[in-house]
Amino acid sequence: MDGDVTAEMAGQEAGERTERPGAPPPDGSDHALAIDARGLSKSFDAHVVLRDLDLRVRAGEIFGLIGPSGSGKSTAIHLMCGHLRPTGGEVKVLGESPTAFSARTRRRIGYMPQGFILYPDLTVKQNVGAAAGLYELPEWRNRGRIRAVLDLVELWDARGQAARSLSGGMRRRLALAAAIVHDPDMLFADEPTANLDPILRSKLWNHFRDMSAAGKTLLVTTQYIDEVESCDRVGLTYDGKMIAEGRPEELRRDAFGGDVVEVDLERPSQQDIDTVRQLPWVRSVSTAMMDGDKREKEPHVSLRVVVEDARQAIPQLLDAIEASGAEVRSVGQFRPTFDEVFVRLIERQGARRPPLAALRAHGEPGPEDT
Ligand SMILES: Nc1ncnc2c1ncn2[C@@H]1O[C@H](COP(=O)(O)OP(=O)(O)OP(=O)(O)O)[C@@H](O)[C@H]1O
Ligand SMILES: [Mg+2]
Repeated sequence: MDGDVTAEMAGQEAGERTERPGAPPPDGSDHALAIDARGLSKSFDAHVVLRDLDLRVRAGEIFGLIGPSGSGKSTAIHLMCGHLRPTGGEVKVLGESPTAFSARTRRRIGYMPQGFILYPDLTVKQNVGAAAGLYELPEWRNRGRIRAVLDLVELWDARGQAARSLSGGMRRRLALAAAIVHDPDMLFADEPTANLDPILRSKLWNHFRDMSAAGKTLLVTTQYIDEVESCDRVGLTYDGKMIAEGRPEELRRDAFGGDVVEVDLERPSQQDIDTVRQLPWVRSVSTAMMDGDKREKEPHVSLRVVVEDARQAIPQLLDAIEASGAEVRSVGQFRPTFDEVFVRLIERQGARRPPLAALRAHGEPGPEDT
């Protein structure tokens, strides 16, 4: 893949000098949409890897792309950065088509690749300096900025070390420093937190949030499902398609068909459960037998009740259950993990392979990552 991307990038560089001197600056800065993709598709020969992607990302948003390995996340980013040409549809980033970015717009974009494309023989600091040079940052601005980004990714102390001798996590951090040294308005970050420890991951997410608060737009792919909570909106890719998109909470509701209330009942009869099931505002009920407390050795039943609005439903649910004579041990809104949410959303597509294995939850590297 790298060969293809590099070749297309080279073509892109050659064709880039289309910006007319004195032309009015592209109006990307006040565009409400930083990314506007419609029907974006990409095939390699007969292999369709991205189908009809529709994506609108507003300026200042953090959009997370998540999905199984091979589902097309990196390809989508390559199309949006202009490294690859689409085979169908179109995309505008900061108001311009990526295959015809002006030099000015290109300088407003940062790209952190999933792979390692730094200069192995240069030191950490020289690599970030080289990136700053690519974006034509003035020398006086470089120094402070290089220090700031190396501090952010905690690599200032390693600044004299050759890139080739860095650990995997240090390389990710260096790649991120190189991608943001020019303070881009739009950052494409392909798995920026892979192999990072939880403290650094949360530090980087804080920085992403700061960037977003300052009006920057971020499109981030991740294999850590918990990071979805830090995104304003999320798209779930599967087999080249975006199968769900929305705010994290919307995806949760989408996957389960509403809010989920969990009610633990003491020794309920089938009739008690049917009472809940028959309430007109209850959408569905699933049950699980739970082992009782060791103390009591009594099994109890946990009901997951799907309703429109959990807060409204809980008191009504309690009333109905108590009227039926069953005893409630506990009740509360159940917030499914995003692992469960995504597995459900993928299963709804009639997944062709086991979704749990495909979705590498919590950053377990897949065989493709080695
Ligand atoms: N240059 C290429 N030539 C042929 N096939 C390609 C090329 N680039 C990507 N593909 C294929 O496109 C599909 C999507 O790849 P992509 O890298 O976009 O997936 P991804 O979602 O980023 O996966 P991961 O989570 O492993 O990074 C894969 O089947 C891959 O083999
Ligand atoms: Mg990828």
